[in-house]
Amino acid sequence: MRIFKKTAVLKDWLNSLNKISFSVGFVPTMGALHQGHISLIQESKHHNSITVCSIFVNPAQFNDPKDFEKYPITIERDIEMLEMADCDVLFLPSVSEIYPEGFSEAKQYDLGFLETVLEGKYRPGHFQGVCRVVERLLEIVVPNNLYLGQKDYQQCMVIAHLVKLMDQQSNIQINICPTLREASGLAMSSRNMRLSEKEKNIALTIFQSLELIKNKLAKGDMNELKRKAIIMLEHKDFRIDYVEIADANTLTPLTEWDGKQKSVALIAVYLNEVRLIDNMILN
Ligand code: PAF
Repeated sequence: MRIFKKTAVLKDWLNSLNKISFSVGFVPTMGALHQGHISLIQESKHHNSITVCSIFVNPAQFNDPKDFEKYPITIERDIEMLEMADCDVLFLPSVSEIYPEGFSEAKQYDLGFLETVLEGKYRPGHFQGVCRVVERLLEIVVPNNLYLGQKDYQQCMVIAHLVKLMDQQSNIQINICPTLREASGLAMSSRNMRLSEKEKNIALTIFQSLELIKNKLAKGDMNELKRKAIIMLEHKDFRIDYVEIADANTLTPLTEWDGKQKSVALIAVYLNEVRLIDNMILN
């Protein structure tokens, strides 16, 4: 695997490839890799001649400075995992490579409704930071295919919107890959590294409450169903940001389900200091 730390060197190397016969698949990450990330690498390798993975813990997307400080960094293990997965390129930039002009003054992305609900509401500024780094990374890597995990459902929608806003890059194909789960059902996440074994056991209640919503989904009122999931989570002492059932294409919260509309349940909770999110397509 080739490791690039400098933007200009990576760009030169990518430009030297014969783009006509090459397709580039790109997996952006913040490191602390797990099998979920590796499944994205595998999917990219399957469909592209070159797979590029980036590891960059993006300071601009952390609305909570404590979350940034505590974000797990396991770079040596990440490199081993990427080597094992036969990833072709790792881009490992410094903050000044990504933000040569600093990152306090930022352009604003018009994300409309998406930025006002769920993660957008509870993590102000987060998606602006995600767009900033993803736009920069896409301009550097210029991939044909971008691979994202469904675990960050709303982020996938935001990035799809961003790609539409970046007209010169609009031929990027976005591929959303399924969430990988532990045998218990717990969604794989870098933040799970901050949980004790006991907490991991408690955390699988998130998956169980999503399953409860899915299994009991019936035409009509959604509030009672949400209430049941909330009670289940509160019983285990989670602090709840949201438990929502929404239209799967727009993320508009549903108070009533018509029995047909494609819908998704989304949860964000704190277990002690660690914020966890998960989601499940319901029909
Ligand atoms: O999902 C992530 O790990 C990050 O938000 C991303 C897309 C790599 C941007 O920093």
